[in-house]
Amino acid sequence: MHSRLHAHVGTMRRLEILLAVHDKESINEATKALFLTQPTVSIQMRKLSDTIGEPLYRYVNRKLVFTDVGLELVKTAVEVLDSFSRLYQTLGSMRELKSGTLRLAVVTTSKYFIPHLLGPFCEQFPNIDIQLYIGNREQTIERMKQGIDDFYVFSHPPKDIEAHSLAFLENPLVAIAHQDHPLAKQESISLSELCQAPFLMREKGSGTRYAIEQLFKKHKLQANIKMTIESNEAIKHSVMSKLGISIISAHTLTYGGQSGLVRLPVKELPIDSHWFFMWSNTKRPTLIATEFLEHIESNGKYLLLKELEKSASIG
Ligand code: PGA
Repeated sequence: MHSRLHAHVGTMRRLEILLAVHDKESINEATKALFLTQPTVSIQMRKLSDTIGEPLYRYVNRKLVFTDVGLELVKTAVEVLDSFSRLYQTLGSMRELKSGTLRLAVVTTSKYFIPHLLGPFCEQFPNIDIQLYIGNREQTIERMKQGIDDFYVFSHPPKDIEAHSLAFLENPLVAIAHQDHPLAKQESISLSELCQAPFLMREKGSGTRYAIEQLFKKHKLQANIKMTIESNEAIKHSVMSKLGISIISAHTLTYGGQSGLVRLPVKELPIDSHWFFMWSNTKRPTLIATEFLEHIESNGKYLLLKELEKSASIG
């Protein structure tokens, strides 16, 4: 049988008064802290003690000391009020997950697969807003420095910003040419041969360009840059139009047309890199951001790999 004691204890306010008296170890001090009058506090305490049927405190050497019974009641009051503050937090979280915003800044090359991570996530939380900013590496680093977004996606994370990071997908950078290009006939190509051919390069600030430059630097070579182009798709189509050769992320080739393109068997390639999700290690993540991270780490990654497998890639 359930006890009806709670019905006699009175309101939550009475429990708050009890906790203030316990905390301050004085009726007077509790009165001040609660902006009440002394008789109000004393009456409320007496009503509580009448309900329990025993004194809650005594005066020992003029000091207010709680009895064991009083301390038990204090313990229960703490639990009850704690439950309410947990309820308050849960309700806030439920509201946030219903209407919050997830902000992502991703480098251009990752735009091919990020939507495949966002799709299933939005199915789970249909009412949230997504803000997806797409820029090159340098622009994305700038946003990261300003702390604008919840997550950043790079394949060449900035070395001078400390942050959490999660590697979640490979990003091979491969050489491509039109099938009629003389290099396309060779069974094996060296990087020094590759750098003789007119090269289509991404713009300054691009992560792809950064990775290519690092590779050429390592081999003490220089690309024969014929055109600088600000977009992966435009590079791909320029290669398809025989304007030159290039090195781009294999993800760029997975989607959209690729007629006439071949992958060149350059010994020093692919450049092996990974996609990283990065997020601040000083800012507290929002609840949606936490859910999103959980989504990437669990089924999101799996769904994404399946999606990428489905898309045909050039041989
Ligand atoms: P990008 O970035 O789109 O700036 O070339 C790709 C990367 O960071 O590897």
